[in-house]
Parts: sequence; C-alpha cells; structure tokens
Amino acid sequence: MQSLAILLLAGLASAAVSPYGQCGGVNYSGETTCQSGWSCQYQNDYYSQCLVSTSSTTTTLATTTKSTTTSKATSTSSVSKTTTSASSTTSGTSVGTSTEFVGIEGLNFTINGEPGYFAGSNSYWIGFLTNNDDVDLVLDHMNEAGQRILRIWGFNDVNTVPSSGTVYYQLLKDGVATINTGSDGLQRLDYVVASAEKRNIKLIINFVNNWSDYGGMAAYVTAFGGSQTTWYTNEDAQAAYRTYIKTVIARYSDSSAIFAWELANEPRCNGCDVSTLYNWIKSTSAYIKSLDSEHLVCIGDEGFGLNVQSDGSYPFTYGEGSNFTMNLAIDDIDFGTFHLYPSSWGTTNDWGNLWITAHGAACVAAGKPCLFEEYGVTSDHCAVEAPWQTTALHTKGISADLYWQLGDTLSTGQTSDDGNTIYYGTDDYTCLVTDHIAAIG
Ligand SMILES: *[C@@H]1O[C@H](CO)[C@@H](O)[C@H](O)[C@H]1NC(C)=O
Ligand SMILES: *[C@@H]1O[C@H](CO)[C@@H](O)[C@H](O)[C@H]1NC(C)=O
Ligand SMILES: *[C@@H]1O[C@H](CO)[C@@H](O)[C@H](O)[C@H]1NC(C)=O
Ligand SMILES: *[C@@H]1O[C@H](CO)[C@@H](O)[C@H](O)[C@H]1NC(C)=O
Repeated sequence: MQSLAILLLAGLASAAVSPYGQCGGVNYSGETTCQSGWSCQYQNDYYSQCLVSTSSTTTTLATTTKSTTTSKATSTSSVSKTTTSASSTTSGTSVGTSTEFVGIEGLNFTINGEPGYFAGSNSYWIGFLTNNDDVDLVLDHMNEAGQRILRIWGFNDVNTVPSSGTVYYQLLKDGVATINTGSDGLQRLDYVVASAEKRNIKLIINFVNNWSDYGGMAAYVTAFGGSQTTWYTNEDAQAAYRTYIKTVIARYSDSSAIFAWELANEPRCNGCDVSTLYNWIKSTSAYIKSLDSEHLVCIGDEGFGLNVQSDGSYPFTYGEGSNFTMNLAIDDIDFGTFHLYPSSWGTTNDWGNLWITAHGAACVAAGKPCLFEEYGVTSDHCAVEAPWQTTALHTKGISADLYWQLGDTLSTGQTSDDGNTIYYGTDDYTCLVTDHIAAIG
C-alpha cells in the first residue's frame, strides 16, 4: 500500500505544490517547487511545506483572542469569538495572578496574553483526590517546573453509588441522571479549579470518556440503552450529557483557570460514517459556546482520519469514524487535539514523528493551533518521547504538548502507575519536563 501510494504520487507530481502542501523532507520524492507567491520552508527533517513567501505569514492569520484582562466580554451579538488586533492584548501580565483567559493568536495559544509554546501533562485522578493538600502539592510541583497546562477528567460516571469516601460526579441509573454536587462529588473538582487558579495552571476539562474507565459512554448505555456507537445520537444519553456539561460549565465559566472545555476523551465510533462524530461534535461544540463563548473548546480525539502526509497506516485511516480535517474545520472547535501511542496502534516509535508533523500541517492548513495532547510509552521514556517533544516544538501549527501522565507522591503514596507515568523528581522527569521546558525557552 505504501509503495503504491508513493508511485502514484510520483506519477502525478508534475505541477507545483499547492499552498500548505509538502515540498520536502526525509524520503520525500515529490515536487519541491511551490506555486507562485509561496516558498518551500523547512519545518523539520521530515517535513518542508509551501508557505507564503513574504514575512507577513503570521500576520495574515486572523488574530483571535478570547478575552481581555477584564473578566467576560459583553456579548452583544451571536458571534462567539472576539476578534481584536494583537496590540490590544496587554503584555507584561505573566505573573501568576492574571485573570486573563487563555486565547489563541494565529497558530499560538496565549496564556496571560503571551503567545508561545507551552508544556504540560495529564492527570485523570486529580479531581478524585479527597485531600486538598495533595492537590496543592501536585499543582505546586507543576508550577515550579513551568508546566502550564493540565488535562484532567471532568467526568466520573457510575451506575451504582460507590462506598462512602469514593468520589463520583454523576449517577446514571434506570434512565435517570443525578449529578453529585456534594463533598464527594463536584466539590472535589471545584477544589482543583480553585487551586489551579492560584498557581496559574490552566485546566482542560472533558465531559465523558469513550472508554469505560470512570464510567464513560458505557455507563450511559447501561442507564439509557443503545450502544457505544449509537450513544452519539441517543436522545436520552445526549440530554443527560448536555445537562452534565451545563452544570460543570456553570461552576467555572468565570474562571481563568480553564484552558478549554473538551467534548470527550478519545471519542470513537468504530465502523460509523464520519458524519456521526462530525454532527455530534458540531452540535455539542455549538451548545458549549452558547453556554460560554469565552473559553476555548476542543474535541479530545486521538487525531485519527487524516490524508495529510498519510502513509496509509491504521491511525491515518477513517475506520474509527473520525475525519480529523473535517472535524477541525467546525467553527466552534478552536484548536486540534491528537494523541500518540505507537505500541497500541501497531506503528513504530519513530513513526510518531510523522504523526506529529502531519497534524501540524493539517492545523496550519486549518488556521488553528494543535495540541499534542497525550503521548506515552511504557519503557525508555526519555529516549522515545524526548525526540517527539523536539519534533512537536519545531513543527509549525503545534503550540503545546502534554505527556501522559503526571506522577507524584501523595500523602497516600505514589499516584497510579500505568507504565506511562513520569514521576516528579525522577530522571525521566528531568528529561521530559525540566529539559523540555528549558528547550522551549
Ligand atoms: C527512508 O527510507 C529508508 C530506506 O527505505 C528507510 O530505512 C527509512 O526508515 C526511511 N525514513 C523515514 C523517516 O521514513
Ligand atoms: C508563536 O510563538 C512562537 C514562539 O513559540 C513565535 O516564534 C511566533 O512568532 C509566534 N507566532 C505568533 C503569531 O504569535
Ligand atoms: C471506545 O470506542 C471503541 C470504538 O468505537 C469501542 O470499540 C469501544 O468499545 C469504546 N469503549 C467503550 C467503553 O465503549
Ligand atoms: C475528510 O475531510 C476532508 C475535509 O473535509 C475531505 O476532503 C475528505 O474527503 C474527507 N475524507 C473522508 C474519508 O471522509
């Protein structure tokens, strides 16, 4: 399949490369000349791309910020984004007390009004801890290291009430959804948001899991019927999901600690037409913007279904019901997300670099930044993941990366070890956190 694709490309490669197309890179054998007005610019060893020749590349992209230093912009129209010139963004607000919302400028995220590349991590468990000091400790360590973004689980669905002391956010039972706003419920998430606010950590909060960990779509299916693939169109399941979204957003819509609202963790619809996920993403993102037009919104997908730089391997295909490019074009989706797990996908670790550059190119073409949202291996963390970080940092269109997953030592001992965990204070932490952040500069 791969060599056939290359032969076909070679046969067709007589015209100049279109805007944003590939024009060079390791083993690239196609046309290297760009259309008039565009030039072939090096992105990394694997990828050179046709970009506008003039130095105005970045300024021709819309400069969009989500907020000003005051809390919420007055909404006088149905337009969900506030477009301003870069000069209206205040500078010098990089101290930890800024209440400015996270935004986007061109292909960069902005934190405290400063555009750049940001590093962070994932912690599915932090909102389920019952000791405030543990939450503070973890976020203190993140802040000290300069990790600015933390993606956390904003869901914890159960079908039966767990034993006392076990945190859960929503009970789904016999067709009824009951949100737990108690001290063993969303109040635990409240604490994470409050602690993050004080430490200038920005949180990505998602609303449901594709997988059955912490309930997920399977928990909805148990309560409302259907299947995982019909979950996206099941009216009762979607009504409960939306009520849950509305409840969570209402609690933190004024908080500068929210980086983005995320539709789901790794939504898939195996064997479905790509329109199923597309329609669900479009209507859900519009719903979220109708509740809160100031924060960013993203999907939380693995990045599957992409024809840019595709080598035909499984993740590039559409079998999981996802079309990355089509979904990213949805107006209310502010930035792209993608994950990387070669050992689960039957690819090599080196292939990860192609996966990263392919998404960077797709995001450049979409005019939206990409977040390299999860990546991990179970051994040789530094040797495998540090090169991915370097590729991401030097790939245009990628503006942040979050390794999976954050590890630390709490009052109860070490946090969960799934083999991918990078524990605070270890050599792997020095490599993937300290050294990476130093390289970002
Ligand atoms: C380039 O091609 C060579 C020879 O086929 C191969 O060994 C190498 O892995 C390729 N490099 C990439 C980045 O695909
Ligand atoms: C985005 O940030 C990078 C630094 O990471 C900087 O070189 C570039 O100029 C920024 N672009 C915009 C549009 O701010
Ligand atoms: C997640 O998605 C895949 C693909 O549709 C599916 O096979 C799997 O069962 C899903 N997980 C759950 C818990 O439903
Ligand atoms: C994916 O979306 C892109 C952009 O809309 C489109 O060009 C392409 O044909 C789609 N591919 C599939 C298989 O859906």
